[in-house]
Amino acid sequence: MKRIVIFSGSGLSKESGIPTFRDFDGLWQDYDPRELATINALKTNTEKVMDFYNMRRNKMWESFPNAAHQSIIELEKKFEVKVITQNVDNLHERAGSENVLHIHGELSKVRSMIDEELIYSIEEKKDVNLGDLCSKGSQLRPHIVLFGEPVPKIKEAIEIVKTADILIVIGTSLQVYPAAELIEYTKEDCETYIINPEIPSIKKKDNRFFITEKACIGLPKLVHKLLN
Ligand code: APR
Repeated sequence: MKRIVIFSGSGLSKESGIPTFRDFDGLWQDYDPRELATINALKTNTEKVMDFYNMRRNKMWESFPNAAHQSIIELEKKFEVKVITQNVDNLHERAGSENVLHIHGELSKVRSMIDEELIYSIEEKKDVNLGDLCSKGSQLRPHIVLFGEPVPKIKEAIEIVKTADILIVIGTSLQVYPAAELIEYTKEDCETYIINPEIPSIKKKDNRFFITEKACIGLPKLVHKLLN
C-alpha cells in the first residue's frame, strides 16, 4: 500500500478559526513571541506564559476540525497515512487521524518543569496556572516546544518523511527550522504537493507540485484526485 505523509502547519487550522502566526492577522501580530513563547520567557514570565497558552488552549476547544482535516481520513481508504504536524492543536485527532506526530508539542498536554516525562492530559477547556504543581511538586508548564528548546521528535519525523511515496505539505510558511527542512528528506521518486494560498519560497523541483488554494479547497480536491 502506498504511503502518504501529511506535513501540516497553522494554515491548516486557519479555516477552523485558529490563527496562524505570520499572516497579516496572525498571532505574532498581536503577541510578542519573545515574551510568550521562549524558554527564557517561561522562566522569567511564568504567569504571562501560562495565561497565553491557556488562551490558546481554550480557543482550540472552541474550534472544530474543518473539511481539510476530515479529507485526510478519506485517504486512509487507499493509502497508509501518517501525519506530522507543527500544530499544537488537536484538530487532526478530533477529525479521526490516529497517527499524528506533534513535533512542536500539544496544547492538550502540560508537563512537569523538572521531569519532561511527567506529562498530564487536559482533555477539556481548563486553565493551568502559576502554582499548579506536578506530583513531584514543581510548576506545571505547557507541553510545547518553545523557541530556544530542542525539537525532540525531529529525527522520528525525518525517518517518516523518508518513507513517503507522496508528501502533502499544507498550511506552512516553511520558515521555522528544523521543521522546514523535512521536505528535503523525501526519496527520489516521492511526489510532493504543497497546498497554500501563498506558495512558500522553496526550490522548484520536477516532482514538487504547487496548489495555490486554501486548505479546505485544495486538500479535498487533491484527495479526490488521489483516490480516483
Ligand atoms: N489554507 C492553507 N494555508 C493557509 C491558509 C489556509 N486557509 N491561510 C494561511 N495559510 C498559510 C499562509 O500562507 C502561511 O504560509 O499558512 C502559513 C502559515 O505560516 P505561519 O504563520 O508561519 O505558520 P507555520 O508555518 O505553521 O509556523 C511554523 O512557527 O511560531 C512557530 O511553533 C510555531 O509551529 C509554528 C511554526
